[in-house]
Amino acid sequence: MNRRSFSQAVALGAGTLGAWCNETSAGDGLAAATVRSNQASGTNSQTGTQQAPDRACVADYQELAKAKLPRATYEYVTTGTTEEITLRENVAAFQRLKLYPPLLTGVAEVDTATTVLQQPIALPILLAPVAGQSLFHADGVLASARAAAAAKTILGMSSGAGHSVEEVAAASDGPKWFQIYMPKDRVVARRLIERVDRSGFKAIVLTVDLGERKDADKRNRFALPEPTLRKHLRDIGFTIRDNMSYAQMLAFNNAAWDLTMSWDIFGWMRSISRLPLLIKGVLRPDDARKAVSLGLNGIVVSNHGGRRLDGMPASIDQLPSIVEAVNGRAEVLLDSGVRRGTDVLKALALGAKAVLIGRPYAWALAADGEAGVAKVLDLLREELISAMLACGCRNVREVHRSLLVP
Ligand SMILES: Cc1cc2nc3c(=O)[nH]c(=O)nc-3n(C[C@H](O)[C@H](O)[C@H](O)COP(=O)(O)O)c2cc1C
Repeated sequence: MNRRSFSQAVALGAGTLGAWCNETSAGDGLAAATVRSNQASGTNSQTGTQQAPDRACVADYQELAKAKLPRATYEYVTTGTTEEITLRENVAAFQRLKLYPPLLTGVAEVDTATTVLQQPIALPILLAPVAGQSLFHADGVLASARAAAAAKTILGMSSGAGHSVEEVAAASDGPKWFQIYMPKDRVVARRLIERVDRSGFKAIVLTVDLGERKDADKRNRFALPEPTLRKHLRDIGFTIRDNMSYAQMLAFNNAAWDLTMSWDIFGWMRSISRLPLLIKGVLRPDDARKAVSLGLNGIVVSNHGGRRLDGMPASIDQLPSIVEAVNGRAEVLLDSGVRRGTDVLKALALGAKAVLIGRPYAWALAADGEAGVAKVLDLLREELISAMLACGCRNVREVHRSLLVP
């Protein structure tokens, strides 16, 4: 997209560039307040006509999801662990980083395309593995898979997404990675990985930061409904008898997963699959070096969106030391707290190959299904283009650390 067509798109979408930009700022000024109140009433400020408000940013989808979902489901998606220190820090750390754009660069065209593990993608934004998507929308992860394919990016499918590997594979032709929580029963795990291989997934992501503990979920007694849990366990490949009660299934689920893995697990995974392997949940340079020494192909710097151990640092603050430790020997990706195109730019400037988003697309899926996920990717892409233009970057290779205030 070039500068002119981008400006037109912005102008069409929201009346004026100024109003659109103000609307996206956290500390809203008068113009933003006007846009918000007009959105609430559905009035177009220029024509005075009634129309449905458009979605302008990720935060709009959060509000829509809150209005649409049962409270317990919304809080399952949105909240973080215990005091939510890490959850808040993820967003705050991005906001602390300041951009430092050079002037008058003459850049008029921006290309957001890149590659991740040799997979060409149209934008450096992937969908992170998110469990329970059938609870947010009837089409669940199938809608997310289609939206990712349409945007020419990668879907990271959670092993708890709510559909089987084969169902997700059939939903789109787009590139997909499979995120695995490791079943204790390695026969089940092996069969699952073989199915992932056969279904055409491009990589396997092992999530290693385990154990979610969220006050809201405890307060709400949040649990998967019986049919959802039954399908989930069967989709993994566990043998679940028809006459197994809900209580028995919950007990089975509690005991089914390996929460005490060591680094040996990657050797075992390598012995059964030739797919590229990524580790998700890395925050320490020494862990990143260990992953590289084991020949892993990718490292996802992540604190699980602040859903795991509270008090861990923001992923973006850990990124530079991990990029340095990896030193180009594996690809480094980042998630946790990405809410704006400028966040994507900041992560790229600090050495990430691409970012993943979790809540932003979960909220959009809840609000508008496949169209919502497509739109949220589109909004982030537009914001990234705007930021790249402002910083004089023709492509993602030109996004450099010098764009951040030291
Ligand atoms: C509702 C929800 C469910 C999630 N389920 C998984 C999962 O099954 N596997 C996993 O590795 N990460 C899971 N995550 C974490 C995301 O992959 C990602 O690390 C996180 O959402 C990124 O932070 P963000 O939400 O601030 O973008 C989940 C996140 C959310 C919001």
